[in-house]
Amino acid sequence: MDFSNKVVIITGASSGIGASVAVLYAKQSAKLVLTGRNEQSLNTISKQCEEVNGIKPLIVKADVTDDNDIKKIVLNTIEHFGRIDVLVNNAGVGVRASILDGVKPFDEAIATNIRSAYLLTSLATPYLIESKGNVVNVSSVAAFGPIKGVDFLPYCISKAAMDQFTKCVALELGPQGVRVNSVNPGCTRTPFAEAAGFTKDNVTQLYTQRAESYPLRKVAERDEVADLILYLSSDRARSITGSVYVIDNGEMLV
Ligand SMILES: NC(=O)c1ccc[n+]([C@@H]2O[C@H](COP(=O)([O-])OP(=O)(O)OC[C@H]3O[C@@H](n4cnc5c(N)ncnc54)[C@H](OP(=O)(O)O)[C@@H]3O)[C@@H](O)[C@H]2O)c1
Repeated sequence: MDFSNKVVIITGASSGIGASVAVLYAKQSAKLVLTGRNEQSLNTISKQCEEVNGIKPLIVKADVTDDNDIKKIVLNTIEHFGRIDVLVNNAGVGVRASILDGVKPFDEAIATNIRSAYLLTSLATPYLIESKGNVVNVSSVAAFGPIKGVDFLPYCISKAAMDQFTKCVALELGPQGVRVNSVNPGCTRTPFAEAAGFTKDNVTQLYTQRAESYPLRKVAERDEVADLILYLSSDRARSITGSVYVIDNGEMLV
């Protein structure tokens, strides 16, 4: 899988799956655009990428809930690298709430997890058509149904919307040579659960319980999810579009 001269935008590149996939792309000689809010973490990941292939990534500090920041991601990428080959819509947050909590958590989940991907993909599409590029959306097994024992109502809805987004855009852009796919992880070891408000102890307990209940008796590591993203965005996956790839240690089977 060679990404030489390919320009790859990754949202949520400052942590977890996004950080892992950035380093993987660097190993394949990609030119990277790393975005997120945490500039310090972005700088750390950027250095790791540069050490791997000698190519300095472009960092765009951006809050994906801000339309101007989203526009800045595309404008700065084109100004700096002149093209877009791959867009990884990975930024996301595990918004938790009950239906009794009102509409605010829903708005937050939609703004971060799907509206951002919608707008960014829309702005990147003319360049993706030009490069015959592709999009990988990072969704979740939460897209298929409620996660039992976790108050993930707004999150589940946002990820279900993302899967429909993947399929609709894949259908629309297929004839123009642009592929759109989705990676849907189950529980994966990243700072995600803590960002969703679980304590460290809760997280340890959660991983143990999940691992015990999964057929493969383990949770996923972030590099494993990153591998799948890399594959789907590579030429090896040239016949794959509109597909939703589950990576969940068998969670969906039980
Ligand atoms: N870990 C899991 O168990 C799991 C399972 C299924 C799906 N996923 C999905 O995987 C994706 C990556 O999550 P992760 O597990 O790697 O978690 P993570 O380590 O918490 O990373 C989340 C990333 O999203 C970024 N982000 C969040 N809100 C943002 C905002 N408003 N503007 C810009 N960036 C924002 C964060 O960057 P900043 O903080 O720098 O802004 C961070 O880089 C998410 O879409 C998540 O839903 C994770």
